[in-house]
Amino acid sequence: MLDTPSQRVEDVRLQSFSVTYEYPVVFTRDAFALGNRSLIDVLLRREPYKRHRCLIFIDQGVLLLLPELASQIENYAAAQAGSMELVGPLVPIAGGEISKNDPRAIPGLLELLSEHAIDRHSYTIAIGGGAVLDAVGYASAIFHRGVRHIRFPTTVLSQDDSGVGVKNAVNQFGLKNLIGTFAPPWAIINDSSFIDMLPAREKRAGMAEAVKVALIRDGKFFDWLEAHADELARFSRPHLDYLIKGSAELHVRQIRLGGDPFEMGSARPLDFGHWSAHKLEQLTRNEVNHGEAVAIGVALDTRYSVLSGRLAAGEDERVADLLERLGFVLWHDKLRQCDSHGRPLLLKGIADFQEHLGGELTVTLLAGIGRGVDVHEMNEKIVGKSIDWLEQRK
Ligand SMILES: NC(=O)c1ccc[n+]([C@@H]2O[C@H](COP(=O)([O-])OP(=O)(O)OC[C@H]3O[C@@H](n4cnc5c(N)ncnc54)[C@H](O)[C@@H]3O)[C@@H](O)[C@H]2O)c1
Ligand SMILES: [Zn+2]
Repeated sequence: MLDTPSQRVEDVRLQSFSVTYEYPVVFTRDAFALGNRSLIDVLLRREPYKRHRCLIFIDQGVLLLLPELASQIENYAAAQAGSMELVGPLVPIAGGEISKNDPRAIPGLLELLSEHAIDRHSYTIAIGGGAVLDAVGYASAIFHRGVRHIRFPTTVLSQDDSGVGVKNAVNQFGLKNLIGTFAPPWAIINDSSFIDMLPAREKRAGMAEAVKVALIRDGKFFDWLEAHADELARFSRPHLDYLIKGSAELHVRQIRLGGDPFEMGSARPLDFGHWSAHKLEQLTRNEVNHGEAVAIGVALDTRYSVLSGRLAAGEDERVADLLERLGFVLWHDKLRQCDSHGRPLLLKGIADFQEHLGGELTVTLLAGIGRGVDVHEMNEKIVGKSIDWLEQRK
């Protein structure tokens, strides 16, 4: 409360408050089987005796492969009618970047939320890959200034990285993730049965994020990935489940304990290997998907870490070998594409990376396996030599 107005011209009093965020990250299988309580438990988390209103959005790519899911979810809701109410039929959403690119998508989602009278005590539930989660998450975060939102990530990448985080975004003016919010979800339910039907390429892509987070935070997890690369390359279920859980936990840990969950500072350690990955995705017009680009970016920055004297020689080979054993190809000809002055176009990725956040350039490199370190400049010659190394290895 402000008391008697001061006579002074300048009267500055710092006002401060803090808010604690909590959200469960659940790992389960067959979440919509009648006996599975994962969803019910998170709905009832704060208000156990209420009937909760829910509107469910689902990735069309998932629905196409699992058409019976719609009736399964309706049966689930009917069996739990005392605790949950579906306020409308399941809403199919185009999978992949379409929903993030289409300028009509977010207004369309907001209209649906309005039609169904979703309020801050109702729930939106999104089932899908990272793109669908981003679009529905963004609409949910701005509708009524934020309604309760539950995510069911359905890809390896969204279960082991993006889906367990606190961000959402859509693309605008041709720029990726330009419009979005930081909005911790109500809960995340990682259902491993969705992973069964994922194409091999998508299963593999998400593994790059696990290698990334192991490299910056957990050497033992990296050793485990190395020891089980053959099983992972075959997508052995117990091994893939362990990778997803380990990676998700490390990502959540970074958000919880890293000191900057809403990225107010300049460092983004979880974006190790990403300055070049984002650029490569753009240069190849997404021919190389995010995970595949991250694998290349991680190999590149690991080599850079060795060449710049931060990481022991040989560790770069170790990292590149692991990524290749997992099935990644660590080269794309666009890495070589130059502008009219002979400068690799990839290098523009460094400035783009800084621009997205503002502030001082901060790139995470490696001081050891499991030990990320922030640096504030990138030497273009060393980047060039790192690109040469990738080319020689192919
Ligand atoms: N918010 C964040 O913090 C954050 C972080 C990283 C990435 N992302 C975003 O995530 C998106 C990438 O997500 P993604 O890698 O999960 O891919 P995606 O959402 O683009 O999905 C890829 C394809 O897989 C299909 N699909 C989804 N689940 C499936 C399943 N179980 N079986 C078969 N097909 C399935 C989709 O329909 C789509 O066609 C990008 O838009 C990226 O910007 C967000
Ligand atoms: Zn990523």
